[in-house]
Amino acid sequence: MTPSAKQLKTQVDLRSMNTLGVSAMAAWFVRLARKDDLPYWLSWAREKSLPVLILGGGSNLVLAQDFPGLVIQMGLKGRCWESVSQESAILDVAAGENWHDTVMYSVDAGYGGLENLALIPGTVGAAPIQNIGAYGAELGDVLASVDVFDTQLGEWRRIARQECRFGYRDSLFKQEPGRYVVTGVRFGLSRQRPLNIAYRDLQQYFAQVQREPSSLSGADVARAVIAIRHDKLPDPTRLPNVGSFFKNPIVSRAHYEKLSASFPGLVSYPDPGGVKLAAGWMIDQCGWKGYRNTHVGVHARQALVLINHANGTGKDILDLARAIQADVEKTFGVMLEIEPLVIGEDAA
Ligand code: EPU
Repeated sequence: MTPSAKQLKTQVDLRSMNTLGVSAMAAWFVRLARKDDLPYWLSWAREKSLPVLILGGGSNLVLAQDFPGLVIQMGLKGRCWESVSQESAILDVAAGENWHDTVMYSVDAGYGGLENLALIPGTVGAAPIQNIGAYGAELGDVLASVDVFDTQLGEWRRIARQECRFGYRDSLFKQEPGRYVVTGVRFGLSRQRPLNIAYRDLQQYFAQVQREPSSLSGADVARAVIAIRHDKLPDPTRLPNVGSFFKNPIVSRAHYEKLSASFPGLVSYPDPGGVKLAAGWMIDQCGWKGYRNTHVGVHARQALVLINHANGTGKDILDLARAIQADVEKTFGVMLEIEPLVIGEDAA
């Protein structure tokens, strides 16, 4: 069945489809409800030499200009269990499902693995692209495989975790932008996996509510993560944002030693590539936390998050990001890397 031309829209404002709440027009727009229609729309765009943007929840996207091509909104839905046993199960989820609902669905079924990643905005299909991570866990730890359409080979593929080249906020899908369209993700979940509660915020939370680690379930960890996120991170529906705007930079040990001599409070974590620094702490030290101009600002409780306060554009947000980058570079000699996908000419 050929997709209907009626599904295709022109000049669609993406404002309600990105969590930064930025207005930008898509020249062409289609919502993908059937997986089999994907190759058709990709060829349609290719024939017209139009760029394609796959849109999930729009929670990791900065639209700094209108999009001159075809936006395909990922509307694929469905979850199913495979290889279910008393100890473990595979959960197969379509790319358009909401991430947090999927976490809670798995936790409610009693299978662990995703609980530390509760309340992250966005869709399941976007999760492997930036290898989402929070509170000591990363998606790559529990993902079994990713189903994609490979636009280069023109074929459907199932990519195993080992081939996904997962790193800190990095993956094969990010390294080869535009090549793979993620249509589904399979998670390897377990009833036996030890809970991951080493992250400082989680330790503090459980100490405060006087819960013994041995008494905790995956659902307790999910509830704790939800409470911590509510406390620190702004709700995108009230204060439009894209989560962390910068990656935590990884510097050499020598650079770290020099910095920590000058900045005794420097927050850092060991990393295979050297030392990972807390970008939020550095931005905070530069005095940006709670900063606000007419349109945009920096969150008052987490300096790594930029906020669109009042009809800011993607360009307003990028201008603020550039000013922060320059300040942090001047103070710490570290260039912060922007984390979300930037669409527009400023995306250097
Ligand atoms: N800090 C400050 N001031 C700030 C912000 C942070 O001093 O304004 C300090 C904190 O006190 C803490 C350290 O910096 O000692 C790190 O802060 P936090 O634990 O909040 O984590 P983060 O490094 O700022 C990362 C992820 C978040 C994730 C949290 C929790 C990145 C880029 N960000 O933030 O992910 O929720 O850890 O695991 O790695 C996202 O990617 O959108 C995101 C929100």
